[in-house]
Amino acid sequence: MDIKVNLEGLPLTPEEIESTRGDAAKAMDQLWSGDVPMTGWVKAPMNQDQEMLERILNVADIIRDEAELLLVIGIGGSYMGAKAAIEALPRFEQGTEVRFLGINFCNEYYREILEEVKRKNTIVCAISKSGNTMEIRAALEIIKPVMEEKYGSREEAAKRIIAVTDETSGSLRAEADEMGYVTFPIQGDIGGRFSVLTPVGLLPMAAAGIDIREVLRGAEAVATSPLWDTTAADYAIARYLMNVEKGKAVEAVAFSHSRLAYFGEWLKQLFGESEGKEGKGLWPASLQYSTDLHSMGQFLQQGSPVFFETVVTVEKTDQDIVVPAGPQKGMTLGQLNDAMVRGVIKAHMDGGVPVCEIRIPELNAYTFGQMIYFMEMTCGITAMMLGVNPFDQPGVEDYKREMRKNCGLEG
Ligand code: PA5
Repeated sequence: MDIKVNLEGLPLTPEEIESTRGDAAKAMDQLWSGDVPMTGWVKAPMNQDQEMLERILNVADIIRDEAELLLVIGIGGSYMGAKAAIEALPRFEQGTEVRFLGINFCNEYYREILEEVKRKNTIVCAISKSGNTMEIRAALEIIKPVMEEKYGSREEAAKRIIAVTDETSGSLRAEADEMGYVTFPIQGDIGGRFSVLTPVGLLPMAAAGIDIREVLRGAEAVATSPLWDTTAADYAIARYLMNVEKGKAVEAVAFSHSRLAYFGEWLKQLFGESEGKEGKGLWPASLQYSTDLHSMGQFLQQGSPVFFETVVTVEKTDQDIVVPAGPQKGMTLGQLNDAMVRGVIKAHMDGGVPVCEIRIPELNAYTFGQMIYFMEMTCGITAMMLGVNPFDQPGVEDYKREMRKNCGLEG
């Protein structure tokens, strides 16, 4: 495992950390035991279904050959990981453009995408574990007539719709079976936000040209790393202690690599939906450096002390752009970025802001897979230490029920 965590900037003593190691180990044992529902993701990197992987790669090849646009219809855990990967990673070969629908009910956003579908050769991929989510149902119903018109018939449109959903239940499964869509199953014991490394995330990533075998290899490297027992659970322990013992309500996760901006969004979903329940948990915020230093930086330095900061940096980046003149003459952007990160960590710590550091050696499919699994495991451990179930979302279900009622549907 190549991810490094540095807790020296947090007000935690070695004794405090040591005293909670037992609880973290217990949480990890539970996650690995196979006895806790919805923990299928824990062993998934080692137990890859090779046949399924081949099928994903084959379908992705077809998408890349035949489509200029892959329109992914999904929300929450059914799209955020794929979007994070696509924004973070360089493509290993020419990929299809991927756009996302069903992520809002915004007329203007839809209009723009519908126009694009009319212009571009399109394949649609509807992703929903439950198969019943309102955003997804609405998006699919809106897109179908556009596809039918474009490709001449219901049957021709159906050939260009893929469904990733539960193996047996839900209205998307029923429709896919009836219409003969190409389908991929979502394992029953893996929930939405923990499903990036299943067809949910892997198919759009592969269609975009990302080397998904490398992503999976990275996840496996973390899952099988002995470092979990010594250093890697530290991040979960620190998050737990900063929340419960030090009274911090917010974790501001700051990224100094612009390609990780959407990874921050994915992380907010993972941590927020998994940990924020029963009046507990850290509110996960994400920041972009240096942009946010010129806005939220003021609050971070001197505002209400409700948070601690986690700074995520990528150690090796391209160094080919050099400032040609002026006071920074001769410095690369990478050097300036380092100077900024070191400066901000020092200023914040001097100002009393607790800072945790996470370092990734470089950004590629392998390390991205590591980050996904690392954060999923961190989340599972922290939530279990907090005593909440990381794998349900009763609050989200409440909103879904109320919305259904507002639409005159069964609650
Ligand atoms: O993490 C989760 O479980 C949620 O964010 C879901 O992914 C989201 O609500 C979408 O649900 P579904 O995949 O059933 O459409």
